[in-house]
Amino acid sequence: MKLLHIIPAVAILIIAASCGGGDNAGKNPYQTGETATAGAKSGESIYKTNCASCHMASGEGIDKVYPPLAYSDYLKDKTMTIHQVIHGSSGEIVVNGKTYNNTMPPQQLNDEEVAAVLTYVYACWDNGGAKVTAEEVKAVRAAK
Ligand code: HEC
Repeated sequence: MKLLHIIPAVAILIIAASCGGGDNAGKNPYQTGETATAGAKSGESIYKTNCASCHMASGEGIDKVYPPLAYSDYLKDKTMTIHQVIHGSSGEIVVNGKTYNNTMPPQQLNDEEVAAVLTYVYACWDNGGAKVTAEEVKAVRAAK
């Protein structure tokens, strides 16, 4: 009897702590990313505006069209990941063993915004929680 009352409570807690999608996304503990500056956009809001249309609300992507950001092995290389957001890419790309062949346009975001959105992506969906700083983004931009 008691157990039946505990299960829904646990389920709600799990949903509230997850990233992306659903009505609980606004309460996401990771949403602030590295953006401490007043007025700076949160990684989550940048994600929703600039990335979710292709990579979907929970980073799952679309099979054969848009690669996933959720549990993506591509993200293990932070420099490549930053480069991808700044410059975009077209042609073949392999993510989690699946080949995609499409185009991602370069994202019109400043260093702080790229850092915030990628910190959000790394914090979510089993991506290991790496932090991305504006300095790292600046260095990749400068390196070409
Ligand atoms: C117009 C659709 C579109 C938008 C918007 C977009 N992407 Fe992509 N993204 C793609 C496609 C398509 C690829 C694969 C490109 C290729 O085939 O070369 C990709 C690849 C990637 C990759 C490398 C592969 C992977 O899945 O890990 C990362 C990282 C990434 N995108 C992050 C982002 C982030 C962060 C944003 C928002 C700031 C974003 N993308 C916005 C379409 C998009």
